[in-house]
Amino acid sequence: MDPKHIRNFSIIAHIDHGKSTLADRMLEITGTIDKRRMRDRLLDDMDLERERGITIKARAVTIYHVKDGEKYQLNLIDTPGHVDFNYEVEKSLQACEGALLLVDASQGVEAQTVANAYLAIEANLEIIPVLNKIDLPHARPDEIAEEIENSLGLDGTNALAVSAKTGAGVSEVLDALVEQVPAPTGDPAAPLRALIFDAVYDEFRGIIVYLRVFDGTIREKERIRMMSAGKVFEALEVGRFNPKMDRSGALGAGEVGYFISNIKTLGDVAVGDTLTLDKGPVVKPLPGYRPAVHMVYADFYPTNNGDFEELREALSTLKLSDSALDFAPVTSDALGFGFRCGFLGLLHMEIVQQRLEREHDLDLIQTAPTVTYRIVNHDGSEREIHSPGQLPDPDKFESILEPIARVSIMVPAEYIGTVMQIAIEHRGVYVRQEYVSATRVQLTYDIPMAEIIYDFYDKLKSSTRGYGTMNYELLDFQAGDLVKLRVLVNSADVDALSSICHKDQADYRGRQTIKKLRKEIPRHMFEVPLQAAVGGRIIARETIRAMRKDVTAKCYGGDITRKRKLLEKQKAGKRRMRSVGNVDIPQKAFLAVLGDK
Ligand code: GTP
Repeated sequence: MDPKHIRNFSIIAHIDHGKSTLADRMLEITGTIDKRRMRDRLLDDMDLERERGITIKARAVTIYHVKDGEKYQLNLIDTPGHVDFNYEVEKSLQACEGALLLVDASQGVEAQTVANAYLAIEANLEIIPVLNKIDLPHARPDEIAEEIENSLGLDGTNALAVSAKTGAGVSEVLDALVEQVPAPTGDPAAPLRALIFDAVYDEFRGIIVYLRVFDGTIREKERIRMMSAGKVFEALEVGRFNPKMDRSGALGAGEVGYFISNIKTLGDVAVGDTLTLDKGPVVKPLPGYRPAVHMVYADFYPTNNGDFEELREALSTLKLSDSALDFAPVTSDALGFGFRCGFLGLLHMEIVQQRLEREHDLDLIQTAPTVTYRIVNHDGSEREIHSPGQLPDPDKFESILEPIARVSIMVPAEYIGTVMQIAIEHRGVYVRQEYVSATRVQLTYDIPMAEIIYDFYDKLKSSTRGYGTMNYELLDFQAGDLVKLRVLVNSADVDALSSICHKDQADYRGRQTIKKLRKEIPRHMFEVPLQAAVGGRIIARETIRAMRKDVTAKCYGGDITRKRKLLEKQKAGKRRMRSVGNVDIPQKAFLAVLGDK
């Protein structure tokens, strides 16, 4: 298709503002998918996405819209809204020329509305503000349009008003895309240059590569070179998503679609790489993606040590479609062989853990998440550590630096005091306060990342009745008075349960951790002492008393099936446990070092 008739766009929004619903309506109105086959949230095809009602992975779909008698190809690249997935958003935006900035007209501008809008501004996209949910009785489109102006400096007067639910106003959005989003500027006659913006693994067909063509055309049977990976493959199938894969044989400049080449080796495809023709002239690669910044690290160990290789395979498969995930083998005295994984944030971590367990049928023990610390040695050199166990004794280093995040929080004005209180409790340093409308405020704080993952976000949500939203980005590393909080179970140090915290918080957090561990660790035939310590100083102690009776004792010997059932139940309950020394520690206990979850 002539690039003049192509528009590539994303929908960016705060979580739950209706992005998937709007995409569904667009597919329906343009006849891309007929009404009978329509199910809600069609683009979210991962089970987990449906269950949690959030979009995790970016998806692409091609729709056609006729305006003034001319047919246009609109390529929608879906993006996730949660703060953890800004990285995915950024990738999707590089494949677009425009973005719909969708704002819930009853809620207003939220933290991720702002963060995502800035990503689109940085990517030089044409931004069209769209107010959604105007069917709701408490929708306040005029006020929200003003918030868009005040917080983002975008012209709110032209914002379109829609209801993604009823479909009202959606065809005007399609018209606006054609009118306002620039056509792609690539050169159809130039040698092929295409950006890989995503990839998924298909057991039967190999890796499906999502791409956006910038210059030239990609055709089936051509030999395609992945520029930075240096690999060459024959394009076996080329097509578009509508939304299922639809073979077209070729994709021209400006178009979005996929290619398949029966690639089975996961390392052969790198998201962000540029594709070109093997035999063509040398071209300059497209700007790739900045590397993902990992905010948290946690270790995964298979409950069954024999599953180590399966875990490696599963992580490699996940990494293909989730390039932000990082992992490296690690060994722990207590837990054996596993992997230390780097994540974009806590939600990302949780999703990876659940995908491993569901899609790959693995039972895992996961340690509590921690941030990256920098250790400054006596000679001034620095190194990074990703787990409390790696922290050397205090006399072995000069100082320890921790990551600080710049956090922006959007709240109704009546919660300012509450938020300030929580920020202080989490070692926050006030930066500024701005009103985005008469009733809503944006507060900015610098807060250690470790505090954010401890429980800051949960506290913010619960104490603002869900109204507070936040976004954060890494600011820098600063020296902190930090200590290692050791945990001893039955007098043995368990590194996987230790944590790093501020000196002033150590006593309190030590007591909390031990209290929680006491609840999580089951009774044994013997007494199990639990202790928290900083250096050699014990700061908290609890004892799990010895078990008195046998679980099968109440079965009076006679009923063998019942007895077996009980034993089996006990065995199943044990699956997600690891023995450390001779004490069984269940999965939940490893998360006891986090705040009140
Ligand atoms: P993520 O994918 O998690 O970022 O969320 P999303 O932005 O895709 O939101 P989604 O489309 O799942 O919509 C969130 C909720 O809002 C759902 O319960 C929708 O049914 C509802 N919703 C979306 N659009 C409208 C609308 O125009 N009117 C009303 N009343 N509800 C809507």
